[in-house]
Amino acid sequence: MTKRLSKLGILGFLIMLILPLQSLKVQANAYIQPTTLDLIVATKSGASLQELLEDLPENATSSDPNLMLINALHPIESDLWMDFAYTDKGEMFDSAISGYYYQMINDAAAQGIYYDVVSAYRTIEEQTYNRTVRINAYLAEGYSQADAINLTDRYYAPANASEHNTGLVFDLLGYDWVNIGGGLSADYAYQYSAVWLAENAYQYGFILRYPEGKTHLTGYYFEPWHYRYVGYEHAEYMFRHGLVLEEYLLLLQTREALN
Ligand code: DAL
Ligand code: ZN
Repeated sequence: MTKRLSKLGILGFLIMLILPLQSLKVQANAYIQPTTLDLIVATKSGASLQELLEDLPENATSSDPNLMLINALHPIESDLWMDFAYTDKGEMFDSAISGYYYQMINDAAAQGIYYDVVSAYRTIEEQTYNRTVRINAYLAEGYSQADAINLTDRYYAPANASEHNTGLVFDLLGYDWVNIGGGLSADYAYQYSAVWLAENAYQYGFILRYPEGKTHLTGYYFEPWHYRYVGYEHAEYMFRHGLVLEEYLLLLQTREALN
């Protein structure tokens, strides 16, 4: 046990040295910092690092394509393409997760909860356009260029670093919220449809990707509408412990390095 812990300590130190170098590859947005072992906090379970490592799903690996990490520190070089499925409204997403998505949406509907898919797959070009529109809106409100960009960065990924490009993401707003004029704002979290997703999405393999209190690791403010498919085993673990994908991947990489 002691040997294992000291191995862990050395590894943590090495990862802390290596990870900041990765951030030099791209300009990080205002808030994200590389995830290091000492920053991992099991917000919900309070489990220790050792307990988290021991509880990791047995066969999970950091190279699982469903765990693909795209953030400001891990951008993409070009658009990802896949076999697409379409939502009722015509939003594209990865057809491989169609069954999980529709199971979730249909189970919610059976309980009288209906969602509007505000956005799913987005190309680099679409992300560029969305950012430009948002930045221009801030400029029109009188913000400086720097402030407009910083404010936009809170909710908009860099053009080449949006997780929406995986096809595994849905921005979902319940009609209970849309019908009273609600949009993409943190207040949505208190709405019944948002609470239902927050509590149940993991059962279908989805995670609330940008929760409160983890902005320094994800790079984004709380987005109660943004759900990412990762698969049941991974989602259940992250949900139960209160961990984000960045933390989970580092835990898996740590186990892999120790074995
Ligand atoms: N809203 C998320 C961070 C995105 O732009 O991909
Ligand atoms: Zn989103």
